[in-house]
Amino acid sequence: METDLALDLSNVTKRFGATVALDGASFRVRRGAVHALLGENGAGKSTTVKLLSGLLKPDSGRISIMGKEVQMHGPRDAHRAGVQTAFQEMTLVPDLTVAQNLLMSYEPTGWLGRIRRREAQRMTAEWLERLELTDVQPGAFVGDLALPVRQKIEIAKAIVRHPDVLLLDEPTSALSGHDVEWLARRIDELKARGVTFVFISHRMQEVREYCDSLTIYRNGKDVGAFDAADISDDEVIRLVIGRSLQAKYPPKEPAPETLAPSVENDRAPALEASGVHIDGVVNGFDLTLRAGEVHGIAALQGMGQRELFEGLFGARLIDEGDIYIDGTKLTLTSTADSLKSGVSTSFLPEDRKTEGLFLRLSGGDNVSLPTIGGYTRLGLIDRKREREAIGGALAQMEVHPRALYKPCSSFSGGNQQKIAMAKWLLTQSRVWLMFDPTRGIDVGTKHQIFVLMREFAKAGGAVLFYSTDVPELVNVCDRVSVVYRGRNVAALSGDALTEENVMRKMLAT
Ligand SMILES: Nc1ncnc2c1ncn2[C@@H]1O[C@H](COP(=O)(O)OP(=O)(O)OP(=O)(O)O)[C@@H](O)[C@H]1O
Ligand SMILES: [Mg+2]
Repeated sequence: METDLALDLSNVTKRFGATVALDGASFRVRRGAVHALLGENGAGKSTTVKLLSGLLKPDSGRISIMGKEVQMHGPRDAHRAGVQTAFQEMTLVPDLTVAQNLLMSYEPTGWLGRIRRREAQRMTAEWLERLELTDVQPGAFVGDLALPVRQKIEIAKAIVRHPDVLLLDEPTSALSGHDVEWLARRIDELKARGVTFVFISHRMQEVREYCDSLTIYRNGKDVGAFDAADISDDEVIRLVIGRSLQAKYPPKEPAPETLAPSVENDRAPALEASGVHIDGVVNGFDLTLRAGEVHGIAALQGMGQRELFEGLFGARLIDEGDIYIDGTKLTLTSTADSLKSGVSTSFLPEDRKTEGLFLRLSGGDNVSLPTIGGYTRLGLIDRKREREAIGGALAQMEVHPRALYKPCSSFSGGNQQKIAMAKWLLTQSRVWLMFDPTRGIDVGTKHQIFVLMREFAKAGGAVLFYSTDVPELVNVCDRVSVVYRGRNVAALSGDALTEENVMRKMLAT
């Protein structure tokens, strides 16, 4: 019988040891639909994607693709069934070129199976052109590319293989406005050709924009499937986190500059940067970050924001310019210096998979690394006190207590991010440098991160917060500095702080 379902998972269970990732979940997608899969961190979304990609086998339950029941033994079986995937933790090989990654195992071969390099380069160039990726060099090594570019190549690699069904697992978590629109165009083109999509994102706005229908998971079970038109955002959020969220963003405390003159205002800024130059990409950056302030940084990809944060953190040398903490000039030569001066280790690197966490260590060990030595008594590490503090930090981030001893590699992407965040909570500091901290984080936890930021500011801390999500910046920050080509081109606050104004300044118009 011909079915109108492209994907049909019925009552699927998948366990990892004691962890039940999927607990009798069902997931159905109509042919030609762009279907969202929503749920908290750890709900089972990526596990579903891996089952459909032939990377994992279900413990029980049935999987049908295009009306045919399948038993897949590897990714090739999924490809044969027409399924291609852009994975959340990308699968590109850093030591190979863009061309090699894009055409991997699809390379044109000649006599004795030798790959015809020139032909491969030509095919790659053609694809890059078709996919509006002409600024990417086919011969560039993937490991040298910025994260958003790698993300786009991961998506391109799936498109090149002519999918009937395209699974996109958090394709936008590393992308900002411009690149998200790039993806929107790809979705439109392929949709017109009848391709079916599964789209995973923690950003409701994108789900609204692209998706016709959606399924919500909670704790490894489906708790609802809807046409997008039939359900409100509030209802979606309620099903995702299992309770309602009164407000997506916590209230802003009045920004310091709007307060009557106070002691606080006479004090030196918590962090001041003047005329900072780094590596030719930060070009005379100035900033005044006051205690009590949540200060946003908005920028298109590659405007020097990453280098700037690394510079302020002491992880990168500053070529020129000065940084003051509480009015005292700083000579930053290493991360340790910045730690001592009260800038917290709250710098979360862009790619947690390779830089942010030691995946083979437990969550507890990861959290304790920057503060080790803080729990010593008579020269010995006070394990009990340390464990209590770490447990507290993990609980505050709503990470499951088993993160204390289980390796980070066994946690979902979003949960790894939360463990990385928990690290910062333990460091006594006056300034938090937060570089895209909500990447891949679910709505409930995002809200919690915003609450923590506002509480920290209210208690006299200062936060510098970069996000690729402009609505987030506008709704959480007291002030937003827009950075273009390594310099601030605007500082917006009060009524001028709107999404539209920020975006316009980001494009330097
Ligand atoms: N290889 C693994 N070993 C052990 N546990 C795992 C493994 N992969 C996933 N899990 C667990 O299965 C559950 C579901 O994880 P999954 O990656 O599917 O979540 P997710 O919905 O994609 O979350 P996120 O939004 O954070 O990406 C989590 O509790 C996770 O810790
Ligand atoms: Mg996931």
